[in-house]
Amino acid sequence: MLSTGRSLKLAAVDVVIAPSLLSADFARLGEQARAAVGADWLHVDVMDNHFVPNLTLGLPVVRSLLAAVETPLDCHLMIDDPARWAPSYAEAGVYNVTFHAEAAAAVHSDPAAIARDIRAAGARAGLAVKPRTSLESYRELLREFDTLLIMTVEPGFGGQEFLESVLPKLRQARSWIGADELTLRLEVDGGVDVHTIELAALAGADAFVAGSAVYGAADPARAIAQLRAVASDSFANNPRA
Ligand code: DX5
Ligand code: ZN
Repeated sequence: MLSTGRSLKLAAVDVVIAPSLLSADFARLGEQARAAVGADWLHVDVMDNHFVPNLTLGLPVVRSLLAAVETPLDCHLMIDDPARWAPSYAEAGVYNVTFHAEAAAAVHSDPAAIARDIRAAGARAGLAVKPRTSLESYRELLREFDTLLIMTVEPGFGGQEFLESVLPKLRQARSWIGADELTLRLEVDGGVDVHTIELAALAGADAFVAGSAVYGAADPARAIAQLRAVASDSFANNPRA
């Protein structure tokens, strides 16, 4: 029993660092993606200027990125009507396709059905929630997902300040993962740097998106290594890990 417990604990410390290309130079996207040496996933923010007040890129650019880098892509869809668009990202070869619970709710789409479509197309399915969206009504649904992305800024822009008010929601999600025996990555996105990553990991996050903290650094690879070191240590000390 002891050895099983130990191996579970060691496996759980295996954190994911996902640099966000939103803070990269879009004129050199392939080069910037490859500069994120040591990244586990590359986070790609798809924004449609409707769900959020910003416009970035879509499937054609994601296809080009898939051909240009080997790092698994983590697509964060900040778009209306995810049922219509999300499966195409999975079919294209994206590793993890995350859509917003609020966007599905706005058009009365069933998040579980979208998750099943994403998984059927061969990707992992992720559910994202904005900082002020409660998780209460989504607990049962989490079994359908591989990733829960909890936004720690209002979605739309990089370089914002980490919202500590979201930490109780992270702790709540981590406790459900344990109690309900879920296999779920708990991802945070927004304002993550070497200081706030400690707070997020202590609250139970095990996947970390960082845009400006990686691409605003002189050496992105070094920034990734520093984030990983703090996150691994802190997650190991999270009381529920
Ligand atoms: C914001 C995006 C984030 C953004 C994070 O809506 O979802 O992924 O790139 O950027 P930083 O890490 O700079 O807050
Ligand atoms: Zn994002």
